[in-house]
Order: sequence, then structure tokens, then C-alpha cells
Amino acid sequence: MQDSPSQPTGSPGLNHVAIIMDGNGRWARQRGLPRIEGHRRGVSNVREVLKIARELNIKYVTLFAFSVENWQRPAEEISSLMGLLEFFLERNTRELVKNKVRLRVIGRPDDLPEGVQKKLHQALEATKDFQDYVLQVALNYGSRTEVLDAVRAYSEDVSQGKVDPAHLDWPLFSRYLYTADIPDPDLLIRTSGETRISNFLLMQCAYSEMFFSPVFWPDFDRKHFLDAVESFHQRQRRFGKTGEQIKAAPASEPAINR
Ligand code: FPP
Repeated sequence: MQDSPSQPTGSPGLNHVAIIMDGNGRWARQRGLPRIEGHRRGVSNVREVLKIARELNIKYVTLFAFSVENWQRPAEEISSLMGLLEFFLERNTRELVKNKVRLRVIGRPDDLPEGVQKKLHQALEATKDFQDYVLQVALNYGSRTEVLDAVRAYSEDVSQGKVDPAHLDWPLFSRYLYTADIPDPDLLIRTSGETRISNFLLMQCAYSEMFFSPVFWPDFDRKHFLDAVESFHQRQRRFGKTGEQIKAAPASEPAINR
């Protein structure tokens, strides 16, 4: 992040970038370092990448920081990751405020350690009124869990007579997801050479462009990020239409989805 981008170049059509920051452990292993050192370097890289996203005037950035499945890792690694999250929030809340970035959390933050929840709460409160830029962090997040939580909340509204199942469509259902009010990602980046989505934003990435980089997250620098953006701009997004139709009139996400 930086105070104000010196020369915002903008990136038309690229409003939301979501990132699976993978490869911290392998980065560390390659150097004979403990895995946590990779995560530490990963956290510094978060700051760098947010800075570039800001320069490109990308309004929404979503980061996969901790999944529901990550609780299966060794206790020591989980505890170090939670410590790093707390450190990141403590160190960066002021900067988020200075840059007018709203922090958002998706997932089930209530299961996180109290220290992390406290820092999260402070950062969320301090940034809640900002509109222009959003940093969305997925914490204790899983897409399937998100769908279950949404179905539960929707069913509750049905049983209270607040909504009529006869009128269920995607725009309505998507309001029950953690990401309500946030547009779907235009671009999903995964680092480290893995080419899977790993239960991340499965509903929201229905029409996202994918970019898989072989580079481990701590090494994913400005050049790599700009390569991903460049690749995005080479794509033709068709949303189910033909290439000819798109040339005649650029498409946006289909309204069908019933
Ligand atoms: C994947 O690398 C990374 C994670 C599971 C954690 C990502 C978290 C951070 C970078 C820090 C916290 C984030 C924020 C927003 C401050 P891996 O451990 O799976 O690497 P490997 O596949 O090489 O083992």
C-alpha cells in the first residue's frame, strides 16, 4: 500500500483480484528454513502486492489467508500463522486507514483465537466507512462451508416467511454468501504451480479468469503480478456468448442464473 498512487494507470475491467497465496512452505524448504519463515516472507509480500494493486486502481483484493482445512496442519504452524495474522493486523491497520481501504473478512472468524479476533475487530471498526478500496481476507474460509451457512440463513428466512422460494434466483441467493455486496473476482491468481481452486470462492469464480503462476508466493513480485494482469487483458470474456457477439457489444455477467 502507499499513500496515493503516483501515476494510477488503471486496469479496465479488472475490478477484483482474488489470490491463493501458495508455496510459502516450499519456498522455505528450498532454502533450508523453517516453514514459518516462508509464511513470514509471505506476509511481507502481501504488502507489496497490495501496493501494486492500488497503483493499478484495483478496487477489490481478496486474499486466501487461512482455510477451514488448514486446521489440520501441525499445531505449531497454526499458532505461528495466527501470530503472523495478529502481527499483520496490528502493523497495518493504521496504513489501511491512511489509504482509506476497508477491511472485510469472509469465513467463520468466530473460531479464530481471541487475540486475532480482537485485532480484527479493531481493524474492521477503524476502516468500516471507507468505500473506494476493499481488502477482503478469507479467514477460516471454505466455499462449501460458505454455501452451507448461506443455505442455513436462507432456510431461516423462508421459515420466517421473509422470502418466497418460488422467487429464488442467483442474485437473491448470492446475498446470503459471505461476499454479499462484493462483485465476483475478475481474476483469480494461484501461485506455486498448483492448478486447483481448493475450495476457494467456488460460487464467485464461476466466470473469473484464472492465472496459475509457477512462482512461490514469497517470490511473486511486481513483475509476476503485472504478467497476470497482462494475461487477463489478453482474454476475451464471453459469459456464454459467442466471440462475434462480444465484439459487437462487450458482455457482462449473464442475468440468467435461475
Ligand atoms: C500457503 O502456503 C499459504 C498459507 C496456507 C497461508 C497464507 C498466509 C499468509 C501468507 C499470511 C497471512 C495472510 C495475510 C493476509 C496477512 P503453504 O504453506 O501451503 O506452502 P506449501 O504448499 O509450499 O507447503
